[in-house]
Amino acid sequence: MKFSHYSVMLNECLEGLAVKKGGTYFDGTLGGGGHSEAILKKLDGQGFLFSTDLDDDAILSATERLKDFKNFKAVKSNFKKFKDVSDGLGISEIDGAILDLGVSSYQLDNKERGFSYMSKDSLLDMRMDRTQGLSAYDVVNYYDEKKLKFIISCYGEEKFASNIAKNIVIRRKEKPIETTGELVEICDESIPFKFKRDGHPAKKTFQAIRIEVNGELSDLDTVLKDIVDKLKSGGRLAVLTFHSLEDRIVKTVFKELSSGCDCDKRYPCVCGKKEVIKEVNKKPITATEEETTINSRSKCAKLRVIEKL
Ligand SMILES: C[S@@+](CC[C@H](N)C(=O)[O-])C[C@H]1O[C@@H](n2cnc3c(N)ncnc32)[C@H](O)[C@@H]1O
Repeated sequence: MKFSHYSVMLNECLEGLAVKKGGTYFDGTLGGGGHSEAILKKLDGQGFLFSTDLDDDAILSATERLKDFKNFKAVKSNFKKFKDVSDGLGISEIDGAILDLGVSSYQLDNKERGFSYMSKDSLLDMRMDRTQGLSAYDVVNYYDEKKLKFIISCYGEEKFASNIAKNIVIRRKEKPIETTGELVEICDESIPFKFKRDGHPAKKTFQAIRIEVNGELSDLDTVLKDIVDKLKSGGRLAVLTFHSLEDRIVKTVFKELSSGCDCDKRYPCVCGKKEVIKEVNKKPITATEEETTINSRSKCAKLRVIEKL
């Protein structure tokens, strides 16, 4: 299957990054290479861009797409290893970075990957990195009911997590749950009819299991701080999120780093805390109506950009 992905808020991301010719940039989520290519065009043959992705298909196809750019390096890695990857390339400071979180359209649309509730007969997989052990099959068939309920409720914000977890456990006693279609059927049976108006009945459960399989939320706060640490003064970080859980983490870290001393103002400061960044936009940027009509996935996207002080 051809790798195809629509790069969300491409112009807004580039504007946010304010790419400097000759600068060093990091794209943690290479995907189809759309954001990376736009950065490389702005670099105009100078500077350097290094990009990571967990998915071999993304690395292969973006490397081919960007083969003419000599100042580009793709690394198969979790972006959470930003420190190691940049140290390994001898990079001590960067001018900017972008994270476009979550899955690509290619991963969602490729039936073999088992990410989509729209596909009936895909094997439950959902691994971005297909060399990792844990898959959606393992989560659905081996996690106990309590853990399943916790994941579906916390990572999917699904009101009927308890019913879904209970029904998964009942169903798998007959035989293992193997396909996306079987999981969709369980979600459908677990949600009362009158609550099915708010989107596809399996959407939240699939999101939850995907987040668990790929550890999407763990250490996100740490890597944001690691990236800020290596930003030069005036350097920028742009983060695109697609659901409230990841946006909350990004918002909290940016708030923490952009707020200074929080001592009682009537007394001299004892905490010594200083602002490290400033938020370029007070509110997150969202996609234009024009973009959301072309690509419905951009409807829930939020872009936050910060600048290192
Ligand atoms: C939304 S797509 C990025 C699309 C890309 N910006 C473009 O314009 O084509 C997200 C990509 O990030 C990758 N990804 C998600 N989490 C990752 C992580 N922790 N480390 C490395 N790559 C990750 C996914 O495999 C996917 O290819």
